[in-house]
This record gives sequence, structure tokens and C-alpha cells, in this order.
Amino acid sequence: MSLQGKHIVLGISGSIAAYKSAVLTRLLIKKGAEVQIVITPAGREFITSVTLSALSGKPVVSEFFAQGDGTWHSHVELGLWADLMVVAPATAATLGKMANGIADNMLITTYLSMKAPVFVAPAMDLDMFQHITTQRNLETLQRDGVRIIDPATGELASHLEGKGRMEEPEQIVAILEQHFSEKSDLAGKRILITAGPTYERIDPVRFIGNFSSGKMGFALAEECAARGAEVWLITGPTALSLSHPAIRRIDVESAGEMHAAALQTFPEMDMAILSAAVADYRPEQMAKRKIKRTEGEGLSLTLIPNPDIAAALGHIKREGQLLIGFALETDNEEVNALRKMERKQLDFIILNSLRDEGAGFGHDTNKVTILSRSGTKRSFELQTKKEVARNIIDTTFSSSQIIY
Ligand code: C5P
Repeated sequence: MSLQGKHIVLGISGSIAAYKSAVLTRLLIKKGAEVQIVITPAGREFITSVTLSALSGKPVVSEFFAQGDGTWHSHVELGLWADLMVVAPATAATLGKMANGIADNMLITTYLSMKAPVFVAPAMDLDMFQHITTQRNLETLQRDGVRIIDPATGELASHLEGKGRMEEPEQIVAILEQHFSEKSDLAGKRILITAGPTYERIDPVRFIGNFSSGKMGFALAEECAARGAEVWLITGPTALSLSHPAIRRIDVESAGEMHAAALQTFPEMDMAILSAAVADYRPEQMAKRKIKRTEGEGLSLTLIPNPDIAAALGHIKREGQLLIGFALETDNEEVNALRKMERKQLDFIILNSLRDEGAGFGHDTNKVTILSRSGTKRSFELQTKKEVARNIIDTTFSSSQIIY
């Protein structure tokens, strides 16, 4: 959990919260980091370079050229030097420029040259923060792999109350420390994860589906990526979004599409975790037109079985590959889960029971038991899906002789 010796580029843009950047600089220096400040012209209106260079022990970079002797400030060199860049405060204008590559100041050119992870701590008035443009820019940045340090809610410079206060420097430092402490025990591993429900079309407007939210699979994808893995996430329809740049997302709708994508991807993988709630059946035929209601008559659908993705991967699994499945059971839980592990040739099965409060579909929490082929069993209390994801990876990797 150390920032000792880390090279940090601190970008400052023009917000009243820039006064907190002085404290942030001081905290980072106290933790042993080297800090290079890059400030926008608007940022300089709020805090002086004298204050910042005194705290960071380095000249503050703002112009493309040094005013005294005309030497060029190399944003490319900064991009290579940095272990991390954090823009705090990040104004709506700076976020917009970052999202769209408008490189009209040194902060943005530095961002565009950055090889290291980038964090932004937005600071602005509540209406500006909520505006569809700002939200769209944040989404774009997130998709580009930038980590957003969510602003806090409270009193703003305008004396209005709302969301838009830059996160406190102590909190930002804690987030950066957390980033550097993330384990990289999965570096070089390729992991396939399936998530979410599948939709099986009945006609152009109706489908058979289930209540899976995708949260467990997304948490697993984030955990694996944070630990250094390259992740392929095949997901059915869900409203969730991802924050880590090392996750490749493949959106599918039906079990058939998920099956095809999984079969294609799996041969290159070291491990697959199948958390998707795949529909077991689909309509034999999809009506080309919307099925009309006939007064007083029922409707019968003929359903045919979907491919079992887990069993298909179990079938083609080669030595060295690890296959992990889930079992959501309502009764006779453990016996059913063990049977499933055997039938699908899984190495581990994660059992969650619908009888447990707060476990299963849609919740942010889950309560699981991890069973292994070699006969081990670990039960956990109710935890957040993030914690469950960490325990699944810890348990399956540490007790597996297959990869390590
Ligand atoms: O048989 P059941 O659906 O309970 O098995 C659950 C496990 O099998 C989960 O890991 C799920 O993702 C996987 N599965 C699958 N393809 C199916 C059905 C289930 O991959 N068609």
C-alpha cells in the first residue's frame, strides 16, 4: 500500500477546488511519491505555481515552452515517466477536452501521451455535473479506461447543495494507494467470463429470459482485470458498465450466441468462469411477426433445449485450463451442485442458494460455498459481490495445482 518512489503527474484545471490540490500534493510527497504538476491556464487563476512548486519540489509545467529560455516541455517524456496521472480537480471543460482529444493545453497533451493509468476527480456545480454532456464525457472517458473518482455530495462553491464537490485529498490518496496495492497475481493470464441472462426470442417483441442482473460476472471480470489478467467478458443483456480497460466485452443476446462466442474464445484461455444464467430452453421457432392475441384462446409454445455452454467447454477443456461454474439451487443444494460439477467436468462449482436472504439474482450481495473436484469445501458469509469475486479467485487459484 505504498506510494514510495512512484512518479505521479498531477493535473490541475480551473476550479475553486484547486486549493485542495496543494494539500493533495503535500500528502503525496509525504507518502514518498515524486509529483510533477501540470496546470491549465485556468488552473493558474486559482492557485499559484509558486505554492505548487514549493510543495512538489519541481517546477510546475503549464506552457508548451518555458517562458525564460524557450525550451520545450515534453509531454511525451512525462507520459513515459509517470506511473500514474491524476487530474484533480477535473473541470467540465477539461473532462470534455480529454474525452474528445482537444489538445489545446499542456494538461491535455500530457494526457494524450500518457502510458500510465489515469484518474480524474471531477469538481463542478451540481447542474454541470448532472448535465447530459458531462455525463456522456465521463462515460466516454470510462470506456477509454480512465478511472473516475466520484465527486462527493455537499455544499458547493455556489452555496448550492449537491453532487460535484471534488473528493477530499485524503480520500484521493487512499484510492491511489489502493490502485498500487492491487495484486497482480493473474498477470499474463487470459480469463473468459460469461455473465448475465440470455434472451430467447419468441417473436420480434417478446422473449423468454430470467432475472439475472450480471452483477456477479461483472464483479469477477473487474477483480480478474484488477489482478492483472486479460479478461474476455461475454455478457447477455444487462444495464451494467465496466471500468477496467483490460476487459474485452462481447455483448450477446441468446444462449446460441453466447455458446458460439464462448467456444471461439475458450481455446486461448487459461480459465473460464461461467456465471451466466443461460436459458435452458428456447422457442423452437421465432415468429417473424408479432403474435396476435386470439380472444378466448391460449397459446402454446414448443421449447427446445439450448446448448449447455459449461458442458461444451468441459468437453473441449485441455490440460492446464481451469473451468469454474455456478449452481443456483433451491433444494438439495450441495448434492445437485456436486452432480453438476461432475456432469459438466468443472474444476470448481460456486453454490448459491435461493433460500439465503440477499443471495442470488439482482442483489449486490451473495452468499456462496465453493466446492472443488478434489473434494474441498469453503463456505462464506453474506458478502458484497466484489468480496465474493475476490474469494472465488483466491480459492480457485490458491488450491488449484493446474495453473500454479
Ligand atoms: O445446469 P445449470 O444451469 O444449473 O448449471 C449452471 C452452470 O452451468 C453455470 O455455471 C452456468 O453458467 C452454466 N450453464 C451454461 N450453459 C447452459 C446452462 C448452464 O454454461 N446452457
